[in-house]
Amino acid sequence: MNILVAGGAGYIGSHTCVSLIQAGHTVIVADNLINSSAKTVERVKKITGREVEFCRIDVTDEASVDRVFSGQPIDGVIHFAGFKAVGESVEKPLKYYYNNIVSTMVLARACVKHGVGRFVFSSSATVYGENEVPFVESMKLRPATNPYAQTKVMSEQILSDLAKANPGLSVSLLRYFNPIGAHESGLIGDAPAGIPNNLMPYITQVAKGKLDVLRVFGSDYRTVDGTGVRDYIHVCDLAEGHVFALEKLKPGVHIYNLGTGRGVSVLELIGAFEEANGIKVPYEITARRPGDIDECYADASKAFRELGWSAKRSLTDMCRDAWRFEKNYEG
Ligand SMILES: NC(=O)c1ccc[n+]([C@@H]2O[C@H](COP(=O)([O-])OP(=O)(O)OC[C@H]3O[C@@H](n4cnc5c(N)ncnc54)[C@H](O)[C@@H]3O)[C@@H](O)[C@H]2O)c1
Repeated sequence: MNILVAGGAGYIGSHTCVSLIQAGHTVIVADNLINSSAKTVERVKKITGREVEFCRIDVTDEASVDRVFSGQPIDGVIHFAGFKAVGESVEKPLKYYYNNIVSTMVLARACVKHGVGRFVFSSSATVYGENEVPFVESMKLRPATNPYAQTKVMSEQILSDLAKANPGLSVSLLRYFNPIGAHESGLIGDAPAGIPNNLMPYITQVAKGKLDVLRVFGSDYRTVDGTGVRDYIHVCDLAEGHVFALEKLKPGVHIYNLGTGRGVSVLELIGAFEEANGIKVPYEITARRPGDIDECYADASKAFRELGWSAKRSLTDMCRDAWRFEKNYEG
């Protein structure tokens, strides 16, 4: 299939491009590079040994998107192109609502106009909010009140309504848990600009000496050791989940959790990183971060049952691959 990967130069998008190409598909990357670099697309070509068409466009711009859809046959769209920093979304709500919602509507409209039948959307476990773990797709959503979480709920709703009204458009809503790690080549990985918002890039930057000390937000959560518990998934497993979702997509709207089903605390992740790489990561416990919940992990059985997908890589693989990328990374 010819797949348009919106946000394909980003962290999850670039790994998904590799998986798609290795599964025999052709990818067209659409990205405005607002949070990524064209070098990543070059690295995807290097890993796969295949050409990748790159369109530097903003996918909220309808005319640019229309030109890409008119330029070649497209069989499916995967939509990664969004902003993702929860804290920033509270400070700049309009930036988040505009980019994350308009991009969904513009891409979806282009699919309907050009008769594209498959749409895969990057949603997030944040839509579950304060629910009982493990999170199951059928749960009533209780999303956190931040604009980022709201954009995911709204995009899910828009795409679900659209698919109901257009039986020719099949939609897969993928709720990611916490992707970490990097491609085993060490060429692509998570390279956030500025101080990382997520735990693993923070750990790797402290290990590299770029940051002094890791701050652990809160040690009084109702968890195994008081620190927050999350479901960390290797980004390559997550990327492969997209290939399964796309290839096995049936008519209608389908929601899948992409996680491992296993919760790991902050201290457990630090310990696993130290053990996998033989490096000490100095940390200090500080106050809780507003909005963080005790535990978040998936019931990942539906994706296995219906798609035949499950996460394969271990926590050690995630820690080793994240460190290999950080060590090599020069921007
Ligand atoms: N990383 C996570 O922990 C996580 C968890 C759950 C969901 N998600 C979602 O997955 C998606 C991808 O996340 P990521 O970690 O790869 O982020 P990322 O920032 O690395 O990738 C997003 C890409 O989209 C591009 N982009 C943003 N707005 C654009 C626009 N209007 N037009 C064109 N390109 C645009 C950016 O330049 C970037 O390359 C996001 O929608 C995010 O909300 C991520």
